[in-house]
Amino acid sequence: MRCQDLDVMGRWWVLLCFVLRVLQWALTEAKEWSVTIPSEINVLTRSCVVIPCTFTHPPSHDPSHIIWYSYSGTKYPIVYSKRPQDVIEPFRGKTEFVGDVKSGNCSLKISHALPAMNEYQLYPWIDPDTVKHKFYHKTVKLKVQDTIPAVQLIVDGNPKEGETVHISCMVVHTCISSPPTLSFGDTSGDVQNNQTDLGQGYWRTESTISFPARASDQGRAVGCWVRHPGRQVAPTWVEVSVHYAPRSVHVSAENSTTLLGESVTLECRSDANPSSSTFLWYLQRDGSVRTLTAREDSITVTDLLHGQNSFYCMAQNVLGMANSSSPFIITVEYKPSISPESSCVIQGHALRCWCKVRSLPSASVEWTVDGTDAHAALSHVEMFSVRQNHTLSGELLFNKTVQHRTVTCRAFNGHGQQEHALLIKAPPQNVSISQRPLRVLEGQSLTLSCSSHAFPEVLSYSWYQVYQDREVQLSEGSDRLHLQVVGRHMGPYRCSARNEIGQSRSPSTLVCVDFAPVISPASSCTLENEQVRCECVVESYPLAAVTWTAPGVQTNRMVSMELSGSLKSTLTGHMWNGHDHLITCHAANKYGQISLQLTHKGSSDTSTSSLAAAGCGAAALVLLIAAILYCTQRRYGPRLKKSSPKNSNVALQVSACIRV
Ligand SMILES: *[C@@H]1O[C@H](CO)[C@@H](O)[C@H](O)[C@H]1NC(C)=O
Ligand SMILES: *[C@@H]1O[C@H](CO)[C@@H](O)[C@H](O)[C@H]1NC(C)=O
Ligand SMILES: *[C@@H]1O[C@H](CO)[C@@H](O)[C@H](O)[C@H]1NC(C)=O
Ligand SMILES: *[C@@H]1O[C@H](CO)[C@@H](O)[C@H](O)[C@H]1NC(C)=O
Ligand SMILES: *[C@@H]1O[C@H](CO)[C@@H](O)[C@H](O)[C@H]1NC(C)=O
Ligand SMILES: *[C@@H]1O[C@H](CO)[C@@H](O)[C@H](O)[C@H]1NC(C)=O
Ligand SMILES: *[C@@H]1O[C@H](CO)[C@@H](O)[C@H](O)[C@H]1NC(C)=O
Repeated sequence: MRCQDLDVMGRWWVLLCFVLRVLQWALTEAKEWSVTIPSEINVLTRSCVVIPCTFTHPPSHDPSHIIWYSYSGTKYPIVYSKRPQDVIEPFRGKTEFVGDVKSGNCSLKISHALPAMNEYQLYPWIDPDTVKHKFYHKTVKLKVQDTIPAVQLIVDGNPKEGETVHISCMVVHTCISSPPTLSFGDTSGDVQNNQTDLGQGYWRTESTISFPARASDQGRAVGCWVRHPGRQVAPTWVEVSVHYAPRSVHVSAENSTTLLGESVTLECRSDANPSSSTFLWYLQRDGSVRTLTAREDSITVTDLLHGQNSFYCMAQNVLGMANSSSPFIITVEYKPSISPESSCVIQGHALRCWCKVRSLPSASVEWTVDGTDAHAALSHVEMFSVRQNHTLSGELLFNKTVQHRTVTCRAFNGHGQQEHALLIKAPPQNVSISQRPLRVLEGQSLTLSCSSHAFPEVLSYSWYQVYQDREVQLSEGSDRLHLQVVGRHMGPYRCSARNEIGQSRSPSTLVCVDFAPVISPASSCTLENEQVRCECVVESYPLAAVTWTAPGVQTNRMVSMELSGSLKSTLTGHMWNGHDHLITCHAANKYGQISLQLTHKGSSDTSTSSLAAAGCGAAALVLLIAAILYCTQRRYGPRLKKSSPKNSNVALQVSACIRV
């Protein structure tokens, strides 16, 4: 039945007819001829290719041989036959049957693909002499190219230090009999090669190199060189990434020198993969290590100290941590500062001055004496200086010829200068005693204080009581001497002050005690030719007012004279009738009064004296005498010197107590 004839039978018949034809064709093909080949295959010029091919045939047919043709509308050009002379160019001598006819394998090998073979469509024909099946309906198109197939170079995972790095280099090809060779250049390691059949005529050559991961391999470029038959291509590169804990941790900064008060920015650098993400900072000063609060890789430090500041840092990533092995030292420079201890000391005839200067860089020192440069001011001057750490100790030595030299030390470096007037160290000067309270009545208590001008300061005081021929130490240490019950007999006292240079003494000093008047028993009158002259000597403090009672005496003159703290009142006059008259001397101050009837000297009458104590009346005769003795001793101090000339070591210059 012919389908073209079915017009009259209507459209239903057309469809039925078509389905039947398809079924008939399918069954015939299944039972009979079929060829499986790729529709297209890419081949690198000069490489080989095995075109995979399988076929089925009707059970009744026993296949015996195969010929490969190039597809053509009009002819049957042979590309493979057992008779090489039948093969067309460019295939002659380059094709080879590698299949097995009996087992349905019709694979064809082209040993050397040429550009001229490009675009040829090939197909096999089994037993062409006898089989009429139209094999040319299925062809494989040859794509012969000069394009180098891409190379795949892969690092397996992210190896950690100590693990194994696997790097695979892969390339797809068609020539299993002479596959491309892969190599890794100078990278050494364990290499394994593998060929994988990808089907459709393609193969993959894979070469894997394995070596232990070292931190030094981080960032290393590994190349894969692929050599295809007859050609070498440029290598493909891959960078190896090895993960490792931080190493080579160190601190860095733009400048390791700075000026006091300025800030410095430090960075913690480390070699780590992945990069360090956590940081700790340490600052070492004076032997102790302090952890800073900053956690960043960069810090700005403002509170730097004089001299050297040592910084360390610690860097950490997921694999571990490490400290910087050596400190980063920031040297902080500063202008000179002169130690307040710098001073001068008198050594015999010489004045030795020294100036201690801290600075960085080390300072230079200039000396001035009385405002003039030391070299110009002095004819003989010696100067030394010693530099140690950041301290310069300068020394100046010269003969002290003028009493009050001012010595100045000036220190300077590139950052500034400082000047310091040096104090002269000497034993304490102007040691003196003062009393408190200033006014104290006999029997009360008082405190003596010892003061002085001293540099360096006084370390200790001593108190002495001064006797005619010796001094007795009363106390040591305190600048105070407390006297519980004072009497006019106490003292004199002396204090001495001692500093590191030496010691000096105060003059011997009396205490100032207030007391009621006492009249010296030596007070008397003389009478000559009816002229009377009476002297009344009164001891008191404060000074007493002296008055006289002289009945029957015509007073000519009455004078009072103060003499070394005691008062001498003199009365002169004419005495009537030649009679004995009672002449009385009266003395009074705020503490009491006293009267004494004076005897006449130079008369033949028996002397009488009587004591008339009034008001205070407290002064007993014994006390009176003692007081007079005492007063004599203290008011006429210099006279004592004469009485004990042998005691030259006891300074007997007694100063009176000082009243203000
Ligand atoms: C056909 O023969 C080729 C060459 O000998 C071989 O590589 C291939 O594996 C065979 N194909 C089958 C399906 O056996
Ligand atoms: C070759 O590669 C294939 C697929 O990747 C794998 O299955 C096979 O084990 C490998 N052979 C060798 C010897 O490495
Ligand atoms: C480092 O600091 C010093 C002192 O402040 C300065 O003289 C020098 O120029 C600085 N150097 C640099 C490279 O900044
Ligand atoms: C780093 O140094 C600090 C201070 O010396 C120390 O406390 C710390 O343990 C060190 N850390 C490491 C990882 O060595
Ligand atoms: C100080 O004077 C003494 C003697 O007067 C002399 O021997 C000495 O060399 C002088 N020293 C200096 C530093 O001038
Ligand atoms: C100088 O430094 C050293 C050690 O660095 C130290 O032993 C010495 O005491 C220092 N000297 C002074 C005067 O500070
Ligand atoms: C000691 O006293 C004298 C005289 O009053 C005075 O010139 C001198 O400056 C005083 N000395 C000191 C160190 O105060």
